[in-house]
Amino acid sequence: MSAPQGPKPSGRAEPQFDAIAADYAYYRRALPGTRLYLSHMHRSIADALGPLKPGARVLDLMSGHGDLAEEMAAWQGCDVVAVDISEAILKENRCRLLACGDALQLPFPDRSFDGVIVCGGFHHLRIETLGACLAEILRVLKGNGALSFFEPCDDFVAAALLRKFFYARLEYLGDRADEIVFYRPGLAQTLQAAGFQDVRVRPFGWAGYALLSQTDAAAFLRPFARSPWFAKSLIGMEKVWAKLPLLNRTAFGAIGSGRKPPET
Ligand SMILES: C[S@@+](CC[C@H](N)C(=O)[O-])C[C@H]1O[C@@H](n2cnc3c(N)ncnc32)[C@H](O)[C@@H]1O
Repeated sequence: MSAPQGPKPSGRAEPQFDAIAADYAYYRRALPGTRLYLSHMHRSIADALGPLKPGARVLDLMSGHGDLAEEMAAWQGCDVVAVDISEAILKENRCRLLACGDALQLPFPDRSFDGVIVCGGFHHLRIETLGACLAEILRVLKGNGALSFFEPCDDFVAAALLRKFFYARLEYLGDRADEIVFYRPGLAQTLQAAGFQDVRVRPFGWAGYALLSQTDAAAFLRPFARSPWFAKSLIGMEKVWAKLPLLNRTAFGAIGSGRKPPET
């Protein structure tokens, strides 16, 4: 497989991602603090997926520039296929296996993958198409295969304010007023209703997320991301904060996971 071939997208187009693809990839890779923070997030998605057998095949859905897919392949020694609807962002993607495709109509046969990972992709769908996307994920997963993901959530009031700030100030990131606003309990219910088992949704992303993960969109955050030492300190604090009951609910997002029921 090689970009940008594949079926014509039939779901929601993301023209704004075509426009910002180069900047998006550049700032996520160029600033050491952003790179470290995103790698920490990717590690959490990989851990939530659970152990994989040697030779496992994983789909990184709505992969963007593919850094999660590359890291996952290196960490787990598995084959990771990166899929995105934007041909422009796939030009920034260095993965060995990649395809242009729509999350609502995946270009793969049933039971093709042992795992599916998604980082910040679901909220760019429309609420009425989320169920179709989850059904496609279940279709391409093997029995007992796992899904894990990160998504921003508005449970904490500061997270909702951050989102409003980005809408008001920046028409940049593809973050739009009509994207899906997730809350952690509802997200878990949605996964269960779609047919996933062993669903877990836990808070993730605190000060490090707010200061380091949006540097492609907000120039004023870039100085924070120039120091690897600062990023490492925030990541260390987040690891402690994640374990503190109640306080950990002040997260800006969630790491979620679920499993396809075994084939009968
Ligand atoms: C916020 S970016 C996340 C990219 C990457 N996962 C990351 O962590 O940087 C969302 C991505 O979803 C892609 N996307 C949006 N709708 C899609 C769809 N229906 N099918 C496939 N990809 C889609 C966009 O092109 C964009 O690259």
